[in-house]
Amino acid sequence: MVFRAVLAGCGGMARGWLRALTEAPDLKGRVEIVGLVDLDRGAAEKLRAEFALDRAMTGTDLEQVLTATKPDLLFDVVVPSARRDVVLTGLRHGCHVLTEKPMAASLDDARALVAEAGSAKRVHAVVQNRRFIAGVRRIRQTIADGLLGDLTALHADFFIGAHFGGFREQMDHPLLLDMSIHTLDAARFMAGVDPLAVYCLETNPRGSWYSNGAAANAIFEFSGDVVFTYRGSWVAEGGTTSWESAWRIIGTAGTLLWDGADKFELKQIADNSGFLRPLQDAAVPPPPHPSQIHGHASVIAEFLDAVETGRPPETAGSDNIKSLAMVFAAIESARTRQRVLIAA
Ligand SMILES: NC(=O)c1ccc[n+]([C@@H]2O[C@H](COP(=O)([O-])OP(=O)(O)OC[C@H]3O[C@@H](n4cnc5c(N)ncnc54)[C@H](O)[C@@H]3O)[C@@H](O)[C@H]2O)c1
Repeated sequence: MVFRAVLAGCGGMARGWLRALTEAPDLKGRVEIVGLVDLDRGAAEKLRAEFALDRAMTGTDLEQVLTATKPDLLFDVVVPSARRDVVLTGLRHGCHVLTEKPMAASLDDARALVAEAGSAKRVHAVVQNRRFIAGVRRIRQTIADGLLGDLTALHADFFIGAHFGGFREQMDHPLLLDMSIHTLDAARFMAGVDPLAVYCLETNPRGSWYSNGAAANAIFEFSGDVVFTYRGSWVAEGGTTSWESAWRIIGTAGTLLWDGADKFELKQIADNSGFLRPLQDAAVPPPPHPSQIHGHASVIAEFLDAVETGRPPETAGSDNIKSLAMVFAAIESARTRQRVLIAA
């Protein structure tokens, strides 16, 4: 079937969605964009022209466009502060909703969206595109295959001097809420365990061009006695890491290093004797499903498949709220300077 979709929020990221929809082999021809909505009508019209979406209605009022077009799907690519109203409006119009990260601007909002999707019996899924990449899939497989023995720790470093301009430089907790959500979600996904508690120090380093919270250092406790540490800064000039972070993952049988791009180093204990145990190189398995490594295209395909088959999507809001809960617990810990339990 060809789904009919309205896309709300016609800024930078919307172009990535439309490129995926028009170019990715798994998506081509599966979705017709019937409406484009933005508070700035010019932005919607520009996008319509850019992607030759001649049959799409444009508007500034989501309610009106949904009423006029009656789509199957709402694609939500608005700024985080507008997310709650946009998603609720879509669900109340009977749409299945695929929503950008972060899935809500507060945990209460996220709970309200999950509850509304449940009572409306609509699919509600979150774009966690940075877990749909080869490296993250390969690490999850490495851990699941027991190549590290029992997993004991994950450590992620994220250091980028990012000069975005726009909403990120004004919003509260920009690093934790807008970026770390990707890394935290990836850690939860790779480890396959539950987040339990966190201690976090959030700072706005001297010289920061963000209004607050451009850096954070957090220690998470996961179930199974697994520790996850996150060190991140959006105002670190030089020594830049990958956008996927640089990772060190440790188990009872060895260590895996990943540079966040295509360099992996997996070392396993070769012999249980000696002050420093002799190590051997091991291969990191390939991603189990090659269709799941294309970022936005894979998330959108996963969402469409879920709507078609009635199964829950991998990043269903009802599960992905656990990643958002990690973020908000970190924010709360930073505010109170206390260890905070994580509850979705
Ligand atoms: N998954 C990723 O890798 C990734 C990358 C970048 C951005 N994002 C997310 O995508 C979302 C949009 O980011 P962006 O970079 O495109 O921002 P942007 O500022 O470029 O675009 C957002 C657009 O939403 C519009 N808008 C705001 N409120 C609206 C409302 N109530 N109804 C309709 N339109 C509204 C704005 O006018 C603007 O045109 C954010 O949640 C951001 O975190 C995700």
